[in-house]
Amino acid sequence: MKIGVVGLGHVGLVTAACFAHVGHDVIGADVDGEKIEKLRLGSTPFFEPGLEELVSEGSSSGALRFTTSIEETVKAADVLFICVGTPSKASGEADLLQVERLAADIGRCLSTHSEYKVLVEKSTVPVKTGEKILTTVRRRAAGDCDVVSNPEFLREGSAIRDTLNPDRIVIGASSERAVEVLKEVYRPTLEKTGCPIVVTDVSTAELIKHSSNAFLATKISFINSVAEICEATGADVETVAVGMGLDPRIGSQFLKAGVGYGGSCFPKDVAAFASLAGKLGRPFHMLEAVQEMNERGPARLLDKLRNELWHLEGKRIAALGLAFKPGTDDLRDAPALKVISQLLAEGAEVVAYDPVAMSEAKQLLPDVQMADGPITAANDADAALFLTEWQEFAEVDLSELKQAMRFPIVVDGRNLFSLNEMREAGFTYLSVGRPAVRA
Ligand code: UDX
Repeated sequence: MKIGVVGLGHVGLVTAACFAHVGHDVIGADVDGEKIEKLRLGSTPFFEPGLEELVSEGSSSGALRFTTSIEETVKAADVLFICVGTPSKASGEADLLQVERLAADIGRCLSTHSEYKVLVEKSTVPVKTGEKILTTVRRRAAGDCDVVSNPEFLREGSAIRDTLNPDRIVIGASSERAVEVLKEVYRPTLEKTGCPIVVTDVSTAELIKHSSNAFLATKISFINSVAEICEATGADVETVAVGMGLDPRIGSQFLKAGVGYGGSCFPKDVAAFASLAGKLGRPFHMLEAVQEMNERGPARLLDKLRNELWHLEGKRIAALGLAFKPGTDDLRDAPALKVISQLLAEGAEVVAYDPVAMSEAKQLLPDVQMADGPITAANDADAALFLTEWQEFAEVDLSELKQAMRFPIVVDGRNLFSLNEMREAGFTYLSVGRPAVRA
């Protein structure tokens, strides 16, 4: 099929590359000319395992090409995926200006190229956005079109695998004709994986996406609240999570206590969903509590550090991990950034290391020294903080780490180590929701 993908961020570029990989003819568009130039030369604008390979595979076979022209994209494609950004406004509400502008542009182009097109919302948007897109397009277009909601559920770091092997495909449409087009788009994936498909109306599909992300974030804030209670009572949150997760109605995933969730989706989507519920006069207070709990994560970690070091002024702190989670260089809403900003505000000297996010981070954190490895970062440090659960950190040589540091104090925001190994290695070890180990 001829597919256009507009907006080549994490979702758009992965979607475009995967559609080309399964045999579609794909044109990817973005307003950022520099990004398009880079993509044409085969380099991807962010780190995602396997993406560069898929982009070059698509480019060399001719199945994937890139442009800055919306008109060319609308003309070339039968199905247009809308993947532009939907950032948060200060109020938490989703800012849909990019979506509206794109809908208007598509509408203008459709009047000159009037064969039937399906416009697909892939970006996460509040319920009822599909209706607004359709009105905006139809006001300008002479051509026939439908708007479909087809949310993505891809995780950064495993985005290609999630896209090629989805748990489910959700198609929200108001016409049978549009549903058939989307089924054709996903035919290669459905044939290969046999994954379930949910066909529904546009609003329900939009809500499936927001509800899924809000529920996952709720699980994380729930277990982080339990972790606080564990800390106050000497219980162990990891074992609580195992015991809970064995109940199949609860499930073991997303019960990992830590410094909090970050990234481009959860913080923004939970805020947007809570704001939407409020606007509809159906306040979703639970989501406000989820956000509040998440915002406490960095502060809780810093409290532990202050309890050990007293003042932070003049102290040298190793910050290990910057990305919001492993497998990505994405720093958006990364808890590490909040922790580091506060450390700097209190006069600490921060030396950071992350396996992939440092070049991005250098611009955001000009006052932070970047080291070339975890041990170098920890050299002469008063304490080390673990902020992202990279495998490289879990495998660090603990005796080398201890030797490098001024004091063997580790505050772990990701529960990377067992209490026993840290006790045996001679650390004072403060993790999340588990008893403190003291050297
Ligand atoms: C998420 C959703 O999982 C995905 O379906 C959606 O399409 C986009 O948003 P992503 O943001 O890439 O994906 O990351 P995810 O792996 O879900 O993790 C989100 C955050 O939650 C990370 O900061 C992670 O560290 C944190 N997390 C996750 C926890 O703190 N505990 C957990 O148990 C799981």
